[in-house]
Amino acid sequence: MKTLQIEDWIKSENPQLGQSKPLMIIASDQNRYFLKQQHIRDNGNWIEEDAVFFQEYLVSAIANFLGILTPETAIIEVDKQTLKQIPELQFTCQLSEGYYFATKMISNSDENLTRYARILLSQVKAELPYAAKSWNQLMSKIVNKEDIPKIIGLDFFALNTDRFKNPGNLLIRNDPSGRYLIAIDFGHCFGGPFWGGPSRNVDYSPKLNTLHCNDINFGSENAINLLAHQLVIAYNVCQDNRRVKLGFVFDSLISQLDFRTANPFSAVVDVLESMTEHQILTFLKSIPNFWVVTAGIQQREYKDFLLRQRFIIRPIIDVLADSSLFPNVNGKEELRWSKEYHTNIQ
Ligand SMILES: Nc1ncnc2c1ncn2[C@@H]1O[C@H](COP(=O)(O)OP(=O)(O)O)[C@@H](O)[C@H]1O
Ligand SMILES: [Mg+2]
Repeated sequence: MKTLQIEDWIKSENPQLGQSKPLMIIASDQNRYFLKQQHIRDNGNWIEEDAVFFQEYLVSAIANFLGILTPETAIIEVDKQTLKQIPELQFTCQLSEGYYFATKMISNSDENLTRYARILLSQVKAELPYAAKSWNQLMSKIVNKEDIPKIIGLDFFALNTDRFKNPGNLLIRNDPSGRYLIAIDFGHCFGGPFWGGPSRNVDYSPKLNTLHCNDINFGSENAINLLAHQLVIAYNVCQDNRRVKLGFVFDSLISQLDFRTANPFSAVVDVLESMTEHQILTFLKSIPNFWVVTAGIQQREYKDFLLRQRFIIRPIIDVLADSSLFPNVNGKEELRWSKEYHTNIQ
């Protein structure tokens, strides 16, 4: 990944959607980037979301591996000289010296389309008449629909609960060759943006609780199915516990998949289940040291979590099929998988 500097800050175009409000900058390669922050204001207090850059980087790498379209990523180095040249970075944006995670901007001309898509999604949520039809029309021109099951698979693999009910984490790019759906924002994966917690005294036991959620007996089918249910419930937005609903973005994406001829999740599940420890380690080793809080333990815990989580995606998709979340599918028996289910975890 490239390391770049800030040439300029573009004040007026900071996005409104999203919590951390990334800064739009022009970097030293003359391209526009969205620079994310970990030191953010939350209810009047400054907190350190110390896992955001680590997780953004890690999950972007996995997304690339799965062939999901995501923006290019970069490291932005902020040094004394930059802060002196653009004092607003320090005094208005609260940047200090250090290394930041950024994504290259998906070009300007798509903003209207992305905005339109988000308006449509909120109309779908409000169940306005014709909203679903307009959404389908918009999506009918998306050429990378095969990315939809990959994005959903990735969001379960990395415990990303920030997409299915949040229209802000998908973008649309308009190319001469067609429209493309692009996944962004992985900072809140793995149960949240913290490793050591919001204050600076590092207590990573809550994170370990999350990462150990899948530390189960893989020899027991019951244990696997129970965990898959628990994880689906963790994504559930339905107040009434007897029904499962993962969010209007999830439903809108699923409505674009065809379950009648084949199982659209089969390919991504194959790829996830056959990911090797070596591949996962390669992603983790490429994370720059300055984004790691507890060297060694942190990488090992994420690695062990992902190794186990490979074998939970298929059971989760089965639970979704049993919960009537897929069109034309009445239960998991109707989903065809291309390979037998084997876990290689003891
Ligand atoms: N690479 C990018 N290209 C275009 N727009 C972006 C890009 N990255 C972020 N944005 C815009 O900024 C918003 C917030 O970014 P996001 O990464 O979701 O941060 P957060 O939700 O943590 O504030 C997005 O909803 C999108 O509108
Ligand atoms: Mg976001």
